[in-house]
Amino acid sequence: MYPCCWLVLVALIPVTLGTNPGVKVKLTQKGLEYGRELGLASIQQELKKIKIPDISGTEHVSPIGKVQYSLSNMQIVNVGFPQSAVDLVPGTGVRLSISNAFISLHGDWRVKYLRIIKDSGSFDLNVNGLTITTSIAIRSDETGRPAVSSVSCAASVGSASIKFHGGASWLYNLFRSFIDKALRDSLAKQLCPLVNNAVSNLNPHLKTLNVLAQVDKYAEIEYSMVSSPTVSSSSIELNLKGEFYNIGKHQEPPVSPTLFSLPSQNNNMLYMGLSAFTANSAAFVYDKAEVLKLYITDDIIPQSSPIRLSTKTFGIFIPQIAKLYPGLMIKLLVKTVKTPIISFEPNNITIQATGTVTAYAIQPNTTLSPLFVLNLDTSVSTQMFVSEMRLAGAVSLNKMDLTLGTSYVGAFQVKSLDKVLQMVLELVVIPKVNAQLAKGYPLPAIGKMKLVNTQLQVLKDYMLIGTDVQFTA
Ligand SMILES: *[C@@H]1O[C@H](CO)[C@@H](O)[C@H](O)[C@H]1NC(C)=O
Ligand SMILES: *[C@@H]1O[C@H](CO)[C@@H](O)[C@H](O)[C@H]1NC(C)=O
Repeated sequence: MYPCCWLVLVALIPVTLGTNPGVKVKLTQKGLEYGRELGLASIQQELKKIKIPDISGTEHVSPIGKVQYSLSNMQIVNVGFPQSAVDLVPGTGVRLSISNAFISLHGDWRVKYLRIIKDSGSFDLNVNGLTITTSIAIRSDETGRPAVSSVSCAASVGSASIKFHGGASWLYNLFRSFIDKALRDSLAKQLCPLVNNAVSNLNPHLKTLNVLAQVDKYAEIEYSMVSSPTVSSSSIELNLKGEFYNIGKHQEPPVSPTLFSLPSQNNNMLYMGLSAFTANSAAFVYDKAEVLKLYITDDIIPQSSPIRLSTKTFGIFIPQIAKLYPGLMIKLLVKTVKTPIISFEPNNITIQATGTVTAYAIQPNTTLSPLFVLNLDTSVSTQMFVSEMRLAGAVSLNKMDLTLGTSYVGAFQVKSLDKVLQMVLELVVIPKVNAQLAKGYPLPAIGKMKLVNTQLQVLKDYMLIGTDVQFTA
């Protein structure tokens, strides 16, 4: 290779190898088989639209002499692909092979000879043993979406049989000898352009990949590919960024994705691996957006609860509060003080959150008088599930640890507030978090994709979604 070209290649390497993916998507042989069915249906549709140009000419037939002939109005009436296969070509993409395909077409024939004699009729042509082999390359386009192109194609036509209707039988022999060939050549010439077209027609669908999926008014997820797809002998793997960002202002979190590899499972068509990095980038975004806080007043505590947010209730545990602020209601502010840390262990997603709880007495003129600030360390377990094209979750409290930050009401036993605070977390904070998590986060998707037979597993540092897919028109 010439030095100039080496330089070009070297220049490309940092761009394609720069970022580890936060999300990986693997298409298995089973997925490819489904793709083959869809692809063949599309090629079949294309074939039906094929236009065979009229064929006309003059042949010398003894003893009559010059015979002018024409074939017109040729239309495909049937197409069949009894045999086809799709194989992975490591490093490149896939190879689609169609063999023993057949096409039937119907048309009109017309002849003129001895200057004045005209004859006409119709014919049926069956072409058998069609073979098409095409190699399809898959790469990342400039927007980080997958794109396919046909990089090589070969087509041949086996035998043809023609049946004429009407006309004199000696004519049939005339046609059979050279018209078969003309028709076969005409068809063979059109097969590869048609297959290339069908392959290109996949791109508008692939372009629907949600490379920037909006989550809510704060966050969006970037699902663009960070490198070209990896094609091995058993699967195609797409490496997606899988990172949450603040809408509009993309700021990188202090953590970066660690390399992970998907297991070799292949029972499902598709596997998606979502890393702990993706989850932590979400925590970073919401923390930076300052939305991980909640004001709690008594009206959101269920009526059935014996514990009220009042100086009377709190006075049971901290008598000074009832004395200093008799007969007032209390308002709590629960907020994070740093980005929560999400970790994925086998069958266990844990969120570690560090925050504070500030309590205020609400004065009759609505002024808030601070009572105390507690430091709160919580650990929650998260169950994740897939609902439609979204990943949703629900958390439950593992443990909670309270220590005193500041007291404005003198010394007191923090431990005495454990039960009250635990109740507040379980009755108010966790349901709020769960309502948010239940809305779900969009998964990478193409077109009108539906997931079926979906399972989710939590593994070390990532979660694995195995699923089959269905495309609806
Ligand atoms: C998950 O892990 C956390 C922290 O390691 C632990 O406290 C919790 O009990 C675990 N939960 C389950 C269901 O194993
Ligand atoms: C509200 O009432 C409290 C307690 O009576 C008082 O200390 C405070 O100055 C009042 N604030 C205003 C703005 O009136």
